[in-house]
Amino acid sequence: MTPAEDDAVVCRALEYTFHHGRGKGRSTRAVDGIDLTVHTGEVFGLLGPNGAGKTTTIRAITTLLPVPGGMVRVFGHDAARRRMEVRRLLGYVPQQLSAEAGLTGRENVALFARVFDVPRSERAERVAQALAAVDLTEAADRMAATYSGGMVRRLELAQALVSAPRLLVLDEPTIGLDPIARTGVWERVDAVRRATGMTVLVTTHYMDEADRHCDRIALMDRGRIRALGTPAELKAQVREQDPHQTDPSLDDVFRHFAGRDLARGEASEGDFSDVRRTRRTANRVG
Ligand SMILES: Nc1ncnc2c1ncn2[C@@H]1O[C@H](COP(=O)(O)OP(=O)(O)OP(=O)(O)O)[C@@H](O)[C@H]1O
Ligand SMILES: [Mg+2]
Repeated sequence: MTPAEDDAVVCRALEYTFHHGRGKGRSTRAVDGIDLTVHTGEVFGLLGPNGAGKTTTIRAITTLLPVPGGMVRVFGHDAARRRMEVRRLLGYVPQQLSAEAGLTGRENVALFARVFDVPRSERAERVAQALAAVDLTEAADRMAATYSGGMVRRLELAQALVSAPRLLVLDEPTIGLDPIARTGVWERVDAVRRATGMTVLVTTHYMDEADRHCDRIALMDRGRIRALGTPAELKAQVREQDPHQTDPSLDDVFRHFAGRDLARGEASEGDFSDVRRTRRTANRVG
């Protein structure tokens, strides 16, 4: 099958293996051959337990990791060969905090405007618009170090939006936020989507958010996609496969397709280093 030019993301047989440990003697197959299509204009959720391979998949799609096996296309552009073209089309909010604590909100967004080639003459205006879109106009000239966690996440959203991306990639955009702040992030994303038709690829561990906001969902576990469909289709699959589940929630769907026995000790060393990495970057802003 040839991937349609107009699909936002097409992954075919995508795989990624990390080589680590002393002398790189150990390896983790983080992504183990996935096929995935994100249609233009939809909100697509990539869900799965810690270590499933979501962030690695997203980093391959956003060209931050090479594509050693398989194929990734973003709006028809090959992510391995056309990295700059792909980067110009997307905005990315990484899982790890990325704002610079020692810069103001405005300076942080301006930095992204420069990196993402927003024309110089439009920059100041576009930076102001992006800050306004996430309600940070008043706080724009304060150091990011003084922002709350929710404000930092909104600032990162402004950084991703300033280049007017056709594809917005959000890796756990609402993690650690209070319920009102979480709703706030989604409202702002939805407003931009309505205005521009932007496509959204998102990961989250909050099943209620995925249920409410995602048109389609892929459930990933141990590097593979275990189920894919609309929230209603996934619930129907669980009902078919497990007669005890008469009215499954998306939490039940998650447990059904990605349930694993943690007692088997599957949490790997990598999981702990993930936590260490996240905490370390958190210090930058906190
Ligand atoms: N830089 C790295 N070096 C070695 N292994 C890594 C690295 N990054 C990720 N991994 C491993 O790859 C696997 C997938 O990790 P990934 O970060 O993609 O998972 P995830 O689904 O995003 O998890 P989470 O929900 O915790 O964010 C894990 O086993 C992880 O330990
Ligand atoms: Mg992740």
